[in-house]
This record gives sequence, C-alpha cells and structure tokens, in this order.
Amino acid sequence: MAYDIKDAGLVKEGIRRTEWADADMPVLKLIRKRLAREQSLKGVRMSCCLHVTAETANLVRTLKAGGADVVLCASNPLSTQDDIAAALSLKYGIPTFAIHGEDHDTYYKHIDAALAHEPNVTMDDGADLVSAVLTKRKDLAGKIIASMEETTTGVIRLRAMEKDGMIKFPVFAVNDADCKHLFDNRYGTGQSTIDGVMRATDLLLAGKKVVVCGYGMCGRGVATRARGMGAHVIVTEVDPLRALEATMDGFWVMSMKEAAPIGELFVTLTGNADVIRKEHFAAMKDGAMVANSGHFNVEIKIPDLEAMSKQVRRGVRENVDEFVLKNGNRIRLLGEGRLINLAAAEGHPASVMDMSFAVQALTTEFAVKNKAKLSASVHKVPREIDEQVASLKLKSMGISIDALTERQKKYLTSWDEGT
Ligand code: ADE
Repeated sequence: MAYDIKDAGLVKEGIRRTEWADADMPVLKLIRKRLAREQSLKGVRMSCCLHVTAETANLVRTLKAGGADVVLCASNPLSTQDDIAAALSLKYGIPTFAIHGEDHDTYYKHIDAALAHEPNVTMDDGADLVSAVLTKRKDLAGKIIASMEETTTGVIRLRAMEKDGMIKFPVFAVNDADCKHLFDNRYGTGQSTIDGVMRATDLLLAGKKVVVCGYGMCGRGVATRARGMGAHVIVTEVDPLRALEATMDGFWVMSMKEAAPIGELFVTLTGNADVIRKEHFAAMKDGAMVANSGHFNVEIKIPDLEAMSKQVRRGVRENVDEFVLKNGNRIRLLGEGRLINLAAAEGHPASVMDMSFAVQALTTEFAVKNKAKLSASVHKVPREIDEQVASLKLKSMGISIDALTERQKKYLTSWDEGT
C-alpha cells in the first residue's frame, strides 16, 4: 500500500489549508529552516500516528525537511481531514494512511501499514504505534531509537507499560513538557472543544448548565472558556486537590450523581473510562447532550446508553445521535463519543499546535543526537527545549521579557541574605 486516502481530488484544498495553518506556526517554521540546513534527521525512518490535520501536515513536513523519511497514519478514525491526507500523499511526498470515518479494521490496517515502513523513530498520539510494536511487531523494537508521545492518555499507557517492564526503547513524554500541556491542553482543548460542541449543535452556551468531568489541564480549559461564554459550569473530579482548586477557581464542584440531573451539556476530559454511565444517563434531563474530549471513546459508556434505549436516531444533525431511553427521555450523543474537537471541528488552532509540534520536532532531533545515551524507559523532554520553544514563541509574538541582573542571579543562589 503506497498510501491510502479518500479522495486525490482534494489535494488543492489540502495545500491551501496547510499553508494557512503554516502562517500561524512561526516557531515550527524556524525549526524547519534550521533542520533543513543541518539535515539533523538524515537517514531516520519515521512512522507517525497522529491526527491528520493541517497542523500535523506542517509537523511532518518539518521532519521530512530535516532529512527524515516519514510516513503518517491516523490516530483516530474521526479526526482525519481528507484534504490534508491527499495533500500529504500527493504534494508533500509523505505517504499517508488515513480516511475520515474509517472502520476499526481499516484503522488497524493503517497502523500496520505505517509500521511496514520499519521505523527508527515513532511518533504517537495515544500510544497505538508503540503498543502495536510491543505486542504484534516485536521484531521492530530493536531498530527503534526513540518514540515520542503527544497526549496525556498515551503517557498514561506508556507508564503502565513501563510498570509492567514492557518498554524496550526510549520514549519521550512530549505531553508533559510545559510548552505542551500548559498551552495545548488548556487553551487548545478549551477553545476547540467548545468549537466542536457549537458546530455539532448550534447550542447557545450563555445560561446553559455545563458539566465538565475532570479538572486536569484540558478540563480547566473547557470550564474556563464555557464560563467565559456565560455558562453555569459544574466540575466533577476524583482528585481532592483538583476538586478544591476548581472550587476556589469559582466553579461548582459536585459528584456525577449530583450533577447528572442538573446538567444540560456534559463534557468528559478525564483520560479514564466509564465516567458517564448507566446511573447517570438514567438521572439526566430530557434533551441532555453528552460529548467527550478525552483521547479515547471510552469516557462515555455508550454500550450502557444503547442498552437503555428503545430507539436510536442516528444523525439527527451531523455528528449528533439521539438515544430515546425507555423512560422517554432523549440523550444526545455528540461525535460518537470520540474527541469532539477533532470529530466536529478542526482540532486546536495552529498557533497553539505550533508550540506542541515545535517540542515534538526538537525532541526528535534530541533523541536522534543522543541515541547512544538514552535508556529504554519513559523520558522527560529536556528543560532547554521547553525554554527554547517558549522564547521563540514570545519573540514571534513581539513580546520581550526582562533578564536577571548579576545581583539578582547572585541573590537567587545565595542563602546568607535574610531579614
Ligand atoms: N490535537 C488537537 N488538535 C490538533 C490539531 N489541530 N492537529 C493535530 N493534533 C491535534
């Protein structure tokens, strides 16, 4: 399979959208120019499993410009932008295996196709490539220099693999870099989730009772943006510290059991399974809407919803299925419970992906340069990469900051000046 896309006729549109996104990715563009000059990734075979979007197109173009031989497959069946898949395969020379709406078998066929490239470096958003290497394609593990992981859920999976002694090559928790999760997870997910819900439903958020399940960086972003648009926001949590923080940030905090009969729109962003389930659906109001913005479609327990329903009306609106419960209430499921920001909208804006993907590109370069020194375990992104990306981003925004004076540097490293 040379590539597998939906429609070669979409190339022009894909190029147009890739260029539009690129204009808002100045840091990645600078890195692309340097990598192209230095050919830091020359000879590296890369398989990437990412959301196939205009922003991702600019990341994989950067890796290719640096000398890598790159292939790409989808990291979610509903996030692929078919025009981008076409432009990547036919214009930018990056074979892409991704079709919007692909079924489960095709999704895994595409993962297999990406691994048939026999990569030295993999890049994941959700850890599906690494997990396939460590289970089905163990023969490839010895050739892999390093692997990058983009998202919280993927890092959770990798740490579980590490605990079980399964990790056979260095993996970088790119998600945990400050330039990634403090910005992409919070401001990216915050804005794009609301965008996805609004495109799917045309909902007026002002005055709505919105339940945000999970107060990690993503949950914080959505709660803050929903409040900014006039919603009454309730947060549910399992972590006492996060719950306390949400309370003091001014949100109502309560259990899912208490929130279920109050909420009008529910959004899950926990990285866990079964967050909204049978007993919650049973308590919800007629017309309640449920959406997920976590990586996998397991946060809303859809099999419970199906079992409780006497009728399912698919596609009452694009990206909305209506479940009519045996008690007569209707529950509206958005985007099949898959991440709504990519299923119904375009994912995070390019400006914030600029930072995440700058970290990805620089960490890939770091891993290739330092391959002899890296252990087979989960690694942090080096602090210097975070600082470099933050400085470049500030510069691109025309923002200057102060530098420490000699006296201030000394003060910060001494103990003898007190009261
Ligand atoms: N994850 C969230 N938004 C994204 C985007 N625009 N491109 C790639 N991955 C994403």
